[in-house]
Amino acid sequence: MKKLIVTGANGQLGRAINQVYAGSSEYECVNTDVQDLDITKIDAVLRYVDEVKPYAIINCAAHTNVNVCETDVDNAYRINAIGPRNLSIAASRAGAKLMHVSTDYVFDGHASVPYTEFDMPNPEAVYGKTKLAGEQFVKEFAKDYFIVRTAWLYGDGKNFVKTMLSLSETHDRVTVVGDQFGSPTSASELAKAIASLLPTDNFGVFHGTCEGITNWADFTREIYRLAGKTTEVITVTSEEYEKNAAGVVAPRPAYSVLENYMLKLTTNHMFSDWEKAIAEYIRNM
Ligand SMILES: NC(=O)c1ccc[n+]([C@@H]2O[C@H](COP(=O)([O-])OP(=O)(O)OC[C@H]3O[C@@H](n4cnc5c(N)ncnc54)[C@H](OP(=O)(O)O)[C@@H]3O)[C@@H](O)[C@H]2O)c1
Repeated sequence: MKKLIVTGANGQLGRAINQVYAGSSEYECVNTDVQDLDITKIDAVLRYVDEVKPYAIINCAAHTNVNVCETDVDNAYRINAIGPRNLSIAASRAGAKLMHVSTDYVFDGHASVPYTEFDMPNPEAVYGKTKLAGEQFVKEFAKDYFIVRTAWLYGDGKNFVKTMLSLSETHDRVTVVGDQFGSPTSASELAKAIASLLPTDNFGVFHGTCEGITNWADFTREIYRLAGKTTEVITVTSEEYEKNAAGVVAPRPAYSVLENYMLKLTTNHMFSDWEKAIAEYIRNM
């Protein structure tokens, strides 16, 4: 069996990766999370990877709390930049492939057409800056790598869909921003794309998001429609939302639509439409 070290295995993507490989006769997931392998510790990472001798490392570990990153800067750089650096060094040394996951936040969101892998990143939030630094370390230190940028991810874990569903239990109406555009992406769709790339030598940077575009308010309406909830969604602007928010709110890209251009240029892999993916997710909840 080919071993796949999955870091951050308890997170949304880590769980989806495990589902995709469940029952595989070729690949075996070796799951780790921060308690057993803290990716920020170079010596521990090198030791672990040398011992397991994996076919690949799938890095699902990250500091994903975008607002907290604004003030927890050192920790964000440790986890989102030094972590992938350590995994890159270890993967190269072990002759293993590295699958690293990044984000739409590497872009500033000022565009009006979808970003491709050939557009220049320009992150504004600390989270995006740390994730871009992680990408740069991967390019510098890993030999055989894939960097897959995703966005608006939901799966088995804490996410926007679950927050909105739980708000609907206690609220007749919710206010949601309508001026940020993106593509909600199911972790299981992303895991399928990762599994399709991993056996290949089709290395490089890829965008990996569900097809189609929406905004957070319309996404919420669709979640409620599918779940049979009657909670009313009031659309607000990002400015109005920030005025009423408690604590630090990170700058969010207004337009964070990623085109899966490299996947389309180099593979036959297609992500499902976001509407189809969220319907399946809610059906299986
Ligand atoms: N969620 C999104 O909307 C979104 C959007 C775009 C891109 N992405 C990217 O997609 C990837 C997967 O995201 P996700 O939503 O699955 O994340 P997640 O659910 O937050 O899971 C991340 C996991 O990493 C673990 N972790 C944190 N620090 C670690 C460390 N030092 N060493 C090892 N593990 C550590 C976390 O443990 P604790 O929970 O104990 O901290 C958690 O189990 C990430 O690279 C993320 O940046 C996510």
